[in-house]
Amino acid sequence: MRTRFVRHLGPAESVIDVAGYGLVALNSLVDAPEGERIDRGELTEDSLRLLDEALTAGPPTFVGLHHPPVDLHVDLMDPIKLTTAEGLAEVLARHGNVVAVLVGHAHTMAITTFAGVPVLVGGGLVSTITTDAEDLPGIDYAQPPSIALHLVGDDHLVTHWRVV
Ligand SMILES: [Fe+2]
Repeated sequence: MRTRFVRHLGPAESVIDVAGYGLVALNSLVDAPEGERIDRGELTEDSLRLLDEALTAGPPTFVGLHHPPVDLHVDLMDPIKLTTAEGLAEVLARHGNVVAVLVGHAHTMAITTFAGVPVLVGGGLVSTITTDAEDLPGIDYAQPPSIALHLVGDDHLVTHWRVV
């Protein structure tokens, strides 16, 4: 399997081709002043331009960033999701080759959609953030860490979730 770095813009921002698929990694973290912490996510115009260029005539592509672009019905996390989701939606809507958007941040294995493409949310490693509908602690340290195994081919994606 051959991996090719197509472009590398800076911390956590790369365009990679591997086995006929693309991966565009975008940095949605917001720099905080010394001593402060910013948990919400943003994508810069440069990041969106990188994505737009990579998707143009690109292979079937996964888009990875830290923050979910939509509410997950989790009061703890929804206020600190991606706040520049409209710009991401506009870019995704211009292209038909996005396989899925892969995100983290929310500490809950979840699946949703955004701009017509699947959004797969990775689970937490040390904790799980629960929904308000569950009779569980808001941050549950008793649940095991998890990983997602993405299988592609035959024109579709299958994701298997595993606890580890
Ligand atoms: Fe986070």
